[in-house]
Amino acid sequence: MRKKIVAGNWKMNYDLAETEKFLVDLKKQAIPSDVSVMVAPAFTNLYPAINSTEDSAIEIIAQNLHQRDSGAFTGEVSAKMLKSVGVSTVIIGHSERRSIFGETNKMLSEKVDAALENKMQIIFCIGEAIEERKNGSFFDLIQEQVSTALFHLSAESWENIVIAYEPVWAIGTGETASPLQVQEMHAYIRKIIADKYSKELSEMISILYGGSVKPDNAKEIFIQTDVDGGLIGGASLKVASFMAIINSF
Ligand code: PGA
Repeated sequence: MRKKIVAGNWKMNYDLAETEKFLVDLKKQAIPSDVSVMVAPAFTNLYPAINSTEDSAIEIIAQNLHQRDSGAFTGEVSAKMLKSVGVSTVIIGHSERRSIFGETNKMLSEKVDAALENKMQIIFCIGEAIEERKNGSFFDLIQEQVSTALFHLSAESWENIVIAYEPVWAIGTGETASPLQVQEMHAYIRKIIADKYSKELSEMISILYGGSVKPDNAKEIFIQTDVDGGLIGGASLKVASFMAIINSF
């Protein structure tokens, strides 16, 4: 059985007081025992968030890391630093990191290595832009994003990898990929992993969908055979909508 995951990517939202208030409210909710719930606050709020969720099943995760352990990289945070405050999972390769901050496939592959060397779990994001969706090159693009960042890994390392398929045209736009488009891509991702490694390994990987997931569309997406949950932006910022999505399996 693959792990079901709902992860909230807060991006650059919520200060310390807002983060703590949200987590106090979320802790009062009944979270289904078969769903792993993760929340990714800003770096500044990770440590207090870890402390306030200690006695709960909520996992606090990071939105990014730098590929080196330490050094002259002003403004950056390393895997080692994240581990030192109790963070064990990190989102790598979000499309905003790729497009706004210029993160390349090569850089992302180094970030993956840094996270694994520090024994972290990874939610690795991939997804095509609207041009690639329209001109039909989206399968090739996804193949390239997966292979350049992850295909140098040993089969054992894949125990620590979750993939999040997030078509860029559906992020924060209110436009979701249709359940069929999502299923088609998730099956394709599983196939390229099976071709490179094995069918067993491909069946073990959780693949999340992200891009305008809301309480009213989560069910039809989560029910797809190859969808194991979601990476949620906007709708993870309110406890009610986040919980409704968590309860959509
Ligand atoms: P969204 O963001 O749910 O607001 O579209 C998803 C994401 O960027 O991970």
